[in-house]
Amino acid sequence: MASKLLAFLLLLFFFIACNQIKKEDDSTEQTKNDSLKTCSMNPNGQSELAELMRQMQGHINSIRDASIAGTISGEMPDFLNTIHTAKPTDSTMVDSEFDSRADEYLESVKNLYHRNPESQKIAFNTMVSKCQSCHEHYCPGPLVVIKKMYIPLQP
Ligand code: HEC
Repeated sequence: MASKLLAFLLLLFFFIACNQIKKEDDSTEQTKNDSLKTCSMNPNGQSELAELMRQMQGHINSIRDASIAGTISGEMPDFLNTIHTAKPTDSTMVDSEFDSRADEYLESVKNLYHRNPESQKIAFNTMVSKCQSCHEHYCPGPLVVIKKMYIPLQP
């Protein structure tokens, strides 16, 4: 159990380290971003999926403090499950990988709700990493906001 946690922590550090390296390599990221849809933040975006994403963002912000304090309990809010059915602005945006990526995100939220207080910060960051990986794949617009959501962990 302890070794599992250690392996997980190592992975997480690796993940954060990789991200830092990537930030320095702006030009490659730029080229990559140009080939993706932007899905920039448009507060009046009409699609069901855009609306849900804003609610997901609200949800994640509303539980950040509780994750730091380790006081998350209960169950994941039901509305998050509609990620599988909400209609996107542009249907070409959603490919065959969307559902499995959405499931990874939902699993990470459920996991957070069932974690012991000490590991809720880590579970929270895992959840944010699911927002991040999905957006790196589909549309990088919200990444700026998403990357700021991570809870800094002690070295
Ligand atoms: C399964 C893939 C996936 C995951 C996971 C995901 N997103 Fe998204 N997100 C999308 C797609 C696709 C869109 C474009 C939706 C549209 O325009 O219809 C989007 C749009 C957005 C938008 C723009 C909404 C608007 O106003 O137009 C924000 C903000 C956002 N996501 C934040 C988040 C946050 C925060 C998380 C994690 C809690 C997250 N996303 C997780 C795929 C994902």
